Amino acid sequence: MRRRELLKSCVPLGLGAVLAAQRGGAAEAELEVRPKEAGATISKHVYGHFIEHLGGVIYDGIWVGQNSKIPNVAGIRKQFIDDMKRIAAPNLRWPGGCFADGYHWRDGIGPLSRRPRTYNYWQNQMPAGTYTVESNHFGTHEFIRLCREVGAEPYLAANMGSGSPQEFHDWITYCNAPAGALSLADERAANGDKDPFRVRYWGVGNESWGCGGTMLPHEYVPLYYKFTSQIPAYERPYLVAVGPRGHSADMDLGWTTALFQAMGRRRPPDGLSVHFYTDFRRPEYRAGEFTPEQWYMVLHEGTRTEPVIVSHWEEMGKFDKTHRTRLVVDEWGAWYRQVADLTPTYILSQVGTMRDAVHAAITFDIFNRHADKIAMANIAQTINCIHSLFWGFEDKFIRTPTYYTFELYRPHMEGRLVPLVIQAPELKVTRKNGEAGVLAALAGSASLAENRLTITLTNPSLANAVAARIRVTGAQVQEVRGRVLTHADMRGANTFEKPNEVVPATLPATLAQGAVQVTIPSKSVAALELRIV
Ligand code: AHR
Repeated sequence: MRRRELLKSCVPLGLGAVLAAQRGGAAEAELEVRPKEAGATISKHVYGHFIEHLGGVIYDGIWVGQNSKIPNVAGIRKQFIDDMKRIAAPNLRWPGGCFADGYHWRDGIGPLSRRPRTYNYWQNQMPAGTYTVESNHFGTHEFIRLCREVGAEPYLAANMGSGSPQEFHDWITYCNAPAGALSLADERAANGDKDPFRVRYWGVGNESWGCGGTMLPHEYVPLYYKFTSQIPAYERPYLVAVGPRGHSADMDLGWTTALFQAMGRRRPPDGLSVHFYTDFRRPEYRAGEFTPEQWYMVLHEGTRTEPVIVSHWEEMGKFDKTHRTRLVVDEWGAWYRQVADLTPTYILSQVGTMRDAVHAAITFDIFNRHADKIAMANIAQTINCIHSLFWGFEDKFIRTPTYYTFELYRPHMEGRLVPLVIQAPELKVTRKNGEAGVLAALAGSASLAENRLTITLTNPSLANAVAARIRVTGAQVQEVRGRVLTHADMRGANTFEKPNEVVPATLPATLAQGAVQVTIPSKSVAALELRIV
């Protein structure tokens, strides 16, 4: 079916599709995949993580301590390690966030009993009577141990807000100097790790326009070079400069422009951090309780990631013609009103529903489609905070629906992006600002690794399935297998009582006349794996 015919079949388009959604039924979509035109590699680091000393993320989401009854590996919750391994978590960003610009790495080394108790940026936001301080029991060695157990690369955020270039350089030396080379390497060995940590990724500050120093671009840039020009180069560092607050109404394009202007002819950073929160922090937006209109609003707002990526990339290209600097979306996720859904002290812990799983999938498809621009991305935050993959509390632990989005998208890691043309109707929705907007009835991305073609798709409709016909140009499909994550209730979530309420299932897909036929259920995330020759 050609596009016009397809559109005709859904007449009237847009509003018609919405009406159909309300009635229930199936929309139709035509897809074409072109594996012969495989392009940029989708970095595995796009599927990365962010953990901060905030609420219940580190204590006791991740760190339970060696004497805990909760199964642990050297104090780290074992199930967290196991589940992160299962999705091949490629990296972990730590220790913040806002916490990073008040963190002094020396507080977190040496015997636990001698580590100081220090102020945590977030502690004054804890509810009255639950005032807690930072114990520093989870420090650099514990973090590196976690990374090694998971098989993830460490990504450290340096303290630029209250630290010095010297402190930053010492941290790098402590982490990366070869055994026995320097006194700091000896100190590392005395603290239990003879071999260097080989940390490559370094963030030079965090949100320096906000909690990381309230700086203007022309104030940040000289500091960036002061922090980085004498950097100890044991490992070739991958330096990430502080970038925009992408979720601002104007996308904060001015930050990127002014930053590159101030850099002048100096060497640009390897990465530019972009933060993009699907920001619903107003009282009327709850994580677990919402209306159909709010379902669409959140998903629509999530699609704004794409213009943010494209606009900043274009802006950077005006100064950095060869695009030496790539984007690092090191905080992203759907953030609802400030609550603590899990337990009062786990601030910013919010219920993860089917909506968040679909939001994560839409985001990953966008990242994949811009594989040439994005070096890394990190969900905020992996456990017990904002758009989490897990809830861990005492001995209880669950995976949220978003965890399964990571699982379904795992085959894209290090695959080559493949053109995917989708002809599908559009859903008319209400945007966050009350204006009308549209959402594709089917969106997705495709990648190729050897003879395995992965196609991931999202259907955001609350009522309509989408009957999809997928043609693979220039190759023959030998086998197709599908999996899907969906739930009858848009608020479907896993709980400690019902941990497997939302889990992936097999998605039937057939091969007919060389094309794949598959019906993508409403409110779902689907992954198809095609073996092609
Ligand atoms: O992820 C929570 C906070 O959001 C981070 O600490 C900060 O960088 C951002 O504003």
